[in-house]
Amino acid sequence: MQPREVDAMRVRINKVRQMVRVILIGYMGAGKTTVGKALAAELGVPFYDLDWFITTRYRRSVPEIFAERGEEGFRDLEHRMLHEAAEFEDIVLSCGGGTPCFYDNMEYMNSLADTIYLKATPEVLAMHLRMGKGKRPLLEGKSSEELEDFIQQMLVEREPFYKKAKYTLDVSLLDSSLKIQESVRLIREMLGI
Ligand code: S3P
Repeated sequence: MQPREVDAMRVRINKVRQMVRVILIGYMGAGKTTVGKALAAELGVPFYDLDWFITTRYRRSVPEIFAERGEEGFRDLEHRMLHEAAEFEDIVLSCGGGTPCFYDNMEYMNSLADTIYLKATPEVLAMHLRMGKGKRPLLEGKSSEELEDFIQQMLVEREPFYKKAKYTLDVSLLDSSLKIQESVRLIREMLGI
């Protein structure tokens, strides 16, 4: 049997057992954590945020890890922690915006979970990110005006990875709790859970 067929079979077996393993991916500011928490609460399964997992384990914030180990060091920890977190049964996991774009992380996630790309326009992402300044080393020093262009350029590099997700949900209009609930409903419909 080919590796792809083995992966497909693992996912099918999990479905028969009604196991929920959903991984949300997408650019910074797309709402992965917000939607993930709401989805997990509705399904009654734990929610994990990969950045939280990393910062709790290493007792350092993401900017501190970047400062001490560089981006390469952060990506290595992220890769290792992904392998721990994604093995849990019955979880909703939200990844960092860069997680799918390094190592074989995207293939790994697809091999054992339902992966969903939360897609939003650069305008919407920039609007959300302007509110959360200081937490994201890759955006450090960008003015409000530069932010949207920067996101647009980065999405050109990142979208080929994001598009490998099994499902895509447009979350550009996620600006109220009603719409968060609507996204949760759409995800449940897509996945049949
Ligand atoms: C990153 C996204 C961040 C965090 C780190 C790097 C990225 O997570 O992992 O700052 O490369 O896009 P969020 O997407 O949760 O902000």
